[in-house]
Amino acid sequence: MKHFATLVDVSQADFERLLRTAHALKAFRSGRTHADYRPLQNMSVVLLFEKPSLRTRVTFEVAISELGGHPICLGPDEVGLGKRESVSDVSRNLSRWVRCIVARTFKHGTVLELARTASVPVINALTDLEHPCQALGDFLSIFERKGRLKGLTLAFVGDGNNVCHSLIQSAAKCGTNIRVACPKGYEPAGDFLKQARRDADATGASITIMHDPSEAVRGADAVYTDVWTSMGFEEETEKRRKAFAGYRVDAALMARARPGAIFLHCLPAHRGEEVTGEVLDGPASAILDQAENRLHSAKAVLLALLAPGESLKFSKLKQRKAARKRK
Ligand code: CP
Ligand code: NVA
Repeated sequence: MKHFATLVDVSQADFERLLRTAHALKAFRSGRTHADYRPLQNMSVVLLFEKPSLRTRVTFEVAISELGGHPICLGPDEVGLGKRESVSDVSRNLSRWVRCIVARTFKHGTVLELARTASVPVINALTDLEHPCQALGDFLSIFERKGRLKGLTLAFVGDGNNVCHSLIQSAAKCGTNIRVACPKGYEPAGDFLKQARRDADATGASITIMHDPSEAVRGADAVYTDVWTSMGFEEETEKRRKAFAGYRVDAALMARARPGAIFLHCLPAHRGEEVTGEVLDGPASAILDQAENRLHSAKAVLLALLAPGESLKFSKLKQRKAARKRK
């Protein structure tokens, strides 16, 4: 794996390896030797943000520091990607100083261009079309709660947005069935569906796009929603409030899911809009597991790109333990 810029380029095997690595790194963090483990020593990693962030920024900074590296964070007004300087000039300069570029941009094309022109790995920290780091942490959260991914059903209610695209791609790679319920005109992009369907054919997952939330949630193992208006679409807020009015996740909708189903949200959430406070803070909610798992999955991605031998070691650790358990 050269970059983590788009899940289109991440194979099913690599995605599964990242999940196993993140899972093992999570267990390792609570152990005694964790503080001495510094595989990214003497490595600087730059974080570029064109949009605000809490979880992505903090988890990447903590992940890089805990692995012994040095994070450098540049906010929305500092770089002027493609404005003050061309994207390729930024990426080629950065490639001379740092070992990896983590970027949150408006246009998906900007992250792809960074990856095309940099000579160091590029990680997508959210674009208008994908949020792969989020999906990786989310699938770890589902796995922890349910003990498997294959054959489960995930229902996504709301906008066919960046988070939705990455969940569809991940579900297809993991053999998880996914049902998306969105208003007409807010469906996920056809390109992502086409690609994901190819992966789904190999894993046996189904991908269904529909318009009825109640139908999507019926019997689901996990119910996911995200904001109705993503960053960069603020001028559409009022129009979207009307279009998404019937797409709120509340206790009645959750009751349609399978008993024991979990609720997921990438956060930040707009309480009372796409989800009620009752569901967000209720017993089914796994939102803080998701937030925590962003840290472990960020570490897994960093190791895979910057210290692949270490990544392999951790991914095998979990497999060996599982094999011992089976015996
Ligand atoms: N979920 C997520 O990416 O949160 P931030 O926007 O706060 O980084
Ligand atoms: N879809 C949301 C996700 C935030 C983490 C957005 O892009 O704003």
